Amino acid sequence: MEKILELISGEVVKAFEENGYHKKYGKVTLSNRPDLCEYQCNGAMAAAKEYKCAPFMISDKIAEALKENPMFEAVDSVKPGFLNLKLNPEFLAGYLQKMDADPERIGCEKCDQPKTIMIDYGGPNVAKPLHVGHLRSAIIGESVKRIGKFMGHTMIGDVHLGDWGLQMGLIITELQQRQPELPYFDESFAGEYPEKPPFTIGELEEIYPTASAKSKENEAYKEAAMQATYELQHGRAGYRALLNHILDVSVNDLKRNYQNLNVSFELWKGESDAQPFIPDMVEKMKVDGYAHLSEGALVVDVKEDTDTKEIPPCMILKSDGASLYNTTDLATIVWRMKDYNPDEIIYVVDKRQELYFTQVFRCARKTGLVNPKTGLKFLGFGTMNGKDGKPFKTREGGVMRLEYLVSSIDEEMYRKIADNHTVEEAEGRKTAKIVALSAIKYGDLSNQASKDYIFDVERFTSFEGNTGPYILYTIVRIKSILKKYQAEKTLPEGAQILAARSESEKALMLELSKFNGMMETAFEETAPHKVCAYIYDLANAFNHFYHQTKIMAEQDEMQQAGYIRLLELTKRALEICIDVLGFEAPERM
Ligand code: ARG
Repeated sequence: MEKILELISGEVVKAFEENGYHKKYGKVTLSNRPDLCEYQCNGAMAAAKEYKCAPFMISDKIAEALKENPMFEAVDSVKPGFLNLKLNPEFLAGYLQKMDADPERIGCEKCDQPKTIMIDYGGPNVAKPLHVGHLRSAIIGESVKRIGKFMGHTMIGDVHLGDWGLQMGLIITELQQRQPELPYFDESFAGEYPEKPPFTIGELEEIYPTASAKSKENEAYKEAAMQATYELQHGRAGYRALLNHILDVSVNDLKRNYQNLNVSFELWKGESDAQPFIPDMVEKMKVDGYAHLSEGALVVDVKEDTDTKEIPPCMILKSDGASLYNTTDLATIVWRMKDYNPDEIIYVVDKRQELYFTQVFRCARKTGLVNPKTGLKFLGFGTMNGKDGKPFKTREGGVMRLEYLVSSIDEEMYRKIADNHTVEEAEGRKTAKIVALSAIKYGDLSNQASKDYIFDVERFTSFEGNTGPYILYTIVRIKSILKKYQAEKTLPEGAQILAARSESEKALMLELSKFNGMMETAFEETAPHKVCAYIYDLANAFNHFYHQTKIMAEQDEMQQAGYIRLLELTKRALEICIDVLGFEAPERM
């Protein structure tokens, strides 16, 4: 369905052309003075220079030309030369009827040319519990993915596990000290390794920090861990078997955690999956003359003449031949291109890694790992801070585990819900979980991703203001009116959205009509915060309308049915939006 702004612009452009002016001057925008009008066109101001006359002479002519146009209720030419537009309520109702006739997509068409887009998000490190630092990547990535899917693209989410670094060597070393008799450490062992892992997730999560602490105090221990990492990376069978155990146990636990967040991945690949692609990739970089030695290390220069700050070379191999985070990311691009040939890869990673990704992207382009047309986009996010403005910590000052954070918000939400009204414990807990997730996700997504933000539990869990619970509350309110109506009657034949009879109703309808344009922009700009801003405005417009309008007491049957259809459409818009944001609404709350 054509966007409402395009329809309006179309008419205004026509009026400019018919009066002998260039069509570029007919561009319409949303009004920045909603008290005066709904849409505006400032083209006469610019046109005046070209046609050498006073701007209002042009705007007067256009206003005159549009006077009888059924799209508008009012077209005012205002000195010095602005055009203020108000839509005809009939036209607006007609537009909404078309949206309403398409309940799946409410007028937002899928894109004409679907792309394959891979999205690298989550990025947890195995054997380390998820902490709040991983929350943003998961929440933002999931939403960007869902927005893309809604627009009709093939979106492939890859969790890109951190499973190749020193942490693996540390775990192996600690395990060897504790259980040296295990066959994994016996190099002459030729049998089948046990199927059952020699640890639980609880043990694993204790083993890693213990090992990490020991390695900081004990040089020999650290040496051993580095040696184990080296041997693992060079294919020592027992260590590979251990890595697989670590992966199994960790991934199970991660999946459970992500499921709690309503986050899921198409691919569970990790850094280790990129390793087989490294030797050929490095060889080719050397043969093609891109990689050269610098102080023993193999590097690719990526600086460009137009750089305003220094972009250091991208290091491919360390002087001892070991691969790095870079190497892995580049080799990951190799298999992604080979297996999926994506049009674009989006990385949702902490913005402190921006320079790093600039190097990786440039290196990938320069050495031909991607096609010239393949997009590589870095979506860097800011830090989630506590109320003190410093990175979010536990009360004791430690890194906060994600699980702990989520359950504390669940608890807070349950307390609020139980305070509000009496609920059965089990149902209350279930509702609290759903609402808590909206609080966490909306709290995050309503900020532009690149900005730091303050995780304010009190504010995020409030039922009022720009919060997830407020949005859900609005949806639940609509659901309950619809239920009440359905309990009393059935929608009469021919029921449809009617022309607005009040300001508040029209304001709601104007918000609804922006849906498809908003969703397209949110996709193009990878900007979930635009979806949040939209539903906040929409929820406000709805609640205002609700307080001003007697829906259930309306005597005119068709009028009441029109309201019900309008409510249905509002509910659909809100539901589609929260779905792309990655949360859902309960039946009651
Ligand atoms: N595991 C990394 C970390 O915890 C994030 C991975 C980001 N993705 C990537 N392709 N490098 O910092």
